[in-house]
Amino acid sequence: MENRPIRIALTKGRLEKDTVGLLEKLGYDCSAIRDKGRRLILPVGDSIEVVLAKAADVITYVENGVCDLGVVGKDTIMEMGGKFFELSDLGFGRCRFALAGKKGGSFYGGYGVKTIATKYPNVARSFFEKKNMDVDIVKIEGSVELAPLLGLSHAIVDIVETGTTLKENGLEVYEEICPISARLIANMVSLKLRKSEIEALIAEIEEKTKE
Ligand code: PRP
Repeated sequence: MENRPIRIALTKGRLEKDTVGLLEKLGYDCSAIRDKGRRLILPVGDSIEVVLAKAADVITYVENGVCDLGVVGKDTIMEMGGKFFELSDLGFGRCRFALAGKKGGSFYGGYGVKTIATKYPNVARSFFEKKNMDVDIVKIEGSVELAPLLGLSHAIVDIVETGTTLKENGLEVYEEICPISARLIANMVSLKLRKSEIEALIAEIEEKTKE
């Protein structure tokens, strides 16, 4: 019988606050996360331990079984894939994948292969494959909106939340790709070995996220 706390990998940054809010709604004491300083492994009551990581690393830790559960955006899941179970849609971190570019531009017009800048090359590739459209993809690490402004790409595939970044940079959505939100994922072995604990937690989460 496993005695260590259930270990949850949590995506730092945007999803962190909402996940802490959810755990607090469930009655867990998250003061260690709120006052974390630079600590990365934090106790939440006696039964949960939270690990703060970058989105892609959340998947890596869960896939490898060093974390039982993870909270990560569907954007990272779509880009990385991997061997884990996607248990539930947590309902927060809502945004969307979109194709965007300079305002008034006509992306689908004209000839020649278009260049797409993105942090999500796999998502972009599959989007254009479904359209049978040949594109060149350039991987950018952040502030992808710069690429069409600097003339590196014709358009971007990126996440849009409020639309402010696009608007303030003279860009617009050309086409919506799909909605995104935070997901709870689980390691496949943990789900078997710690079934009752994980199922109880999911039941609590689902009750609270429906409210
Ligand atoms: C994301 C995304 C957009 C922005 C969209 O970037 O890549 O740039 O947020 O949000 P908005 O529609 O509300 O303006 P993020 O802030 O995560 O940082 P990054 O660009 O450095 O990756």
